[in-house]
Amino acid sequence: MPNLTDLQRRFAIPGVVAIENDANHLARLVVTTPLAEAHVYLHGAHVTHYQPAGHPPVLFMSGKSWFQESKAIRGGVPLVFPWFGSHRDHREFPAHGFARTRPWTLRSVRQDADGVVELSLALGPDDATRALWPHDFEVVYTVTIGSVLGLALAVRNTGSTPFVFEEALHTYLSVGDVRGVSVTGLGQRDYMDKLPSGRRLTQSGEPITITAETDRVYFGTADTVNVLDPQAPGEGGARTITISKEGSLATVVWNPWVAKAKAMPDFGDDEWPAMLCIETANVEEHAVTLKPGESHVMQAQVQAQRDH
Ligand code: BG6
Repeated sequence: MPNLTDLQRRFAIPGVVAIENDANHLARLVVTTPLAEAHVYLHGAHVTHYQPAGHPPVLFMSGKSWFQESKAIRGGVPLVFPWFGSHRDHREFPAHGFARTRPWTLRSVRQDADGVVELSLALGPDDATRALWPHDFEVVYTVTIGSVLGLALAVRNTGSTPFVFEEALHTYLSVGDVRGVSVTGLGQRDYMDKLPSGRRLTQSGEPITITAETDRVYFGTADTVNVLDPQAPGEGGARTITISKEGSLATVVWNPWVAKAKAMPDFGDDEWPAMLCIETANVEEHAVTLKPGESHVMQAQVQAQRDH
């Protein structure tokens, strides 16, 4: 692992991108421009904060999150790869794969003429990943920070046999009160309701509202998802967060509600009304197969707009 001084020397942009240790000694990039602020950890390539100018933060972060090398950060955008949820054959393997708990390598930091900052981080195989998933791969994650947050996960098969993987940008959105939020863009789609048992249903109408613990995987969802939040955090009243995407055919909608929130040690008992996960994904029947040398890119653009 390069040390902090080395990272700063190679990648910092004075006044725009700093590389620092947080209070828990985990390295992160702190981006500050007239367009937006963001924090991105090397641990898990985890975006924990994104705030476009004139808006309250777009991403929810739990006040109870772990910030430890062995654990995933709770909130922001955990990266799910190469499997989603529990491993099918090995329940003892880490949920949602290993990408969110590995140290990623910072590849590049740039700022374009419009002031948008682009960060690129990479992950490859090592003994620890091979013990869990015996494949050679390269994942490059590109985060663009401007008036829109861009997230692009590019996976390449660098080995000599095909592999199948699942992936998700497990985006925790910050909302005023999830009970008042309306979600559009998923109507008429089939979905798997993970509660209680993975039954298959069809979403009848829109908007979708959240009235109980919700854990669903929607299929065939290439369209933009809109989250209308009439009581958005901050002083500005209603806002809509849009998530548009490319290379993704599944969308996960998750809120833990009361009991699950209480059961999670790294999540406050009373935090569940303030978040909704809308996850840009390829999971289950939309898992991706790559032959040797092939690549796949999944992208999401997250944008907040005040409603007048
Ligand atoms: C969602 C899953 O994507 O992530 C849920 O659909 C899960 O089943 C949630 O509870 C949180 O997972 P974790 O591993 O971060 O606690």
